[in-house]
Amino acid sequence: MTKTISGFSKFTKQEKINWLAKAFFVDADEAIRVLKKYWNEDERLQQLHDEFIENTISNFYLPYGVAPNFVINGEEYVIPMAVEESSVVAAASLVAKFWSSRGGFKSKVLSTTKIGQVHFMFDGDFSELKSYFEIIKPKLLEATEEITKNMRKRGGGILDIELRDKTDKLKNYCQLHVSFETKDSMGANFINSCLEAIAKTFRKEGIEIVMSILSNYIPDCLVRAEVSCKVEDLGENAEEFAQKFCQAVQIANVEPHRAVTHNKGIMNGIDAVVLATGNDFRAVEAGAHAYASKDGNYKSLTNCEINDGIFRFWIKIPLALGTVGGLTGLHPLAKLSLELLQKPTAKELMQIVAVAGLAQNFAALRALVTTGIQEGHMKMHLQNILNQLGATENEKQQLIQYFKKRPVTHNAVVEEFGKIRVQ
Ligand code: MEV
Repeated sequence: MTKTISGFSKFTKQEKINWLAKAFFVDADEAIRVLKKYWNEDERLQQLHDEFIENTISNFYLPYGVAPNFVINGEEYVIPMAVEESSVVAAASLVAKFWSSRGGFKSKVLSTTKIGQVHFMFDGDFSELKSYFEIIKPKLLEATEEITKNMRKRGGGILDIELRDKTDKLKNYCQLHVSFETKDSMGANFINSCLEAIAKTFRKEGIEIVMSILSNYIPDCLVRAEVSCKVEDLGENAEEFAQKFCQAVQIANVEPHRAVTHNKGIMNGIDAVVLATGNDFRAVEAGAHAYASKDGNYKSLTNCEINDGIFRFWIKIPLALGTVGGLTGLHPLAKLSLELLQKPTAKELMQIVAVAGLAQNFAALRALVTTGIQEGHMKMHLQNILNQLGATENEKQQLIQYFKKRPVTHNAVVEEFGKIRVQ
């Protein structure tokens, strides 16, 4: 049977599934059964999900958990997280509790400017282009008036349009570099619509528009979150712990192999909240990693210092988030997440998300410089191994009890499981 097809998107959902099941699966009935098992029985809800993308054939669930006891700028939060990695929510909860009795997290939005660009080629005299740009600039803004009307009412809109000469990087390459304030929306559609309207108006002999698109690199849409306390309040072996913790951050600042993993741990927390609130985690990921390399070397997104007996640990990260528009008002769980977070503005959500990243990094580094991560991680992963082995509820309880005081490794679990199965 051929595995290529035309007109697939025109098929009904059932036809799509039937074709896939026949073309790709040994047990077609089983494939169909699995796909359908994840359909929502509420048909309207399922239709909503079907219409998010093209060719929806089922839903892919992620666990939706909550991390309580976060204190951010004096306010208490329970943070929703959508994530599959066993230890992420547990780590966030532990760290939230830890810092709640040490002054909580302080978080501040430093800037909120987003960027979009019209990329074009110009084969001519740049000073002539510059004069043309000065004349046409008011018209470029005028061309977006209809699109920006509502945003301007909310205090946002286009902040500036700059002409940039990039010919030192690429022959004839120039750009219109446009800055935006998008208030509570992430603003991707708004920015792209403005850019396309600007590009249409920016016509002149010699100008060849290549593309108009927002940038996910937003170093001026920045949030900072921090925790601090007296070194002695950090718990057991406080002095040694604080030193090692800061060394771990310094290592991530000078060693890219470590920095990538260090930042991955931060993104464990960030992506989970970004997803749970219906925001675009790919945009956040791309922007965060670009920011981590802004000095020419890939570095840690967090920093740490010990000064006059005070331990201070902070993150600075660009975050393009929305609390209106996009999926935030459409996906019932995204809506619920935002309500759980007390209907934050986009700026407040930036603060919360940055805190989730900082908390996750604190948890990872605390484990790494003390017990190592495997102890906690494998304890959380035990359930997954038991499920993989097909353990019954009774067997699970016995093994969870058994491993409470013993190190969890895959082999040890398989061995113990084998023993109680044959009993
Ligand atoms: C695992 O998902 C994340 C960590 O590797 C992060 C880190 O090493 O800092 C634990």
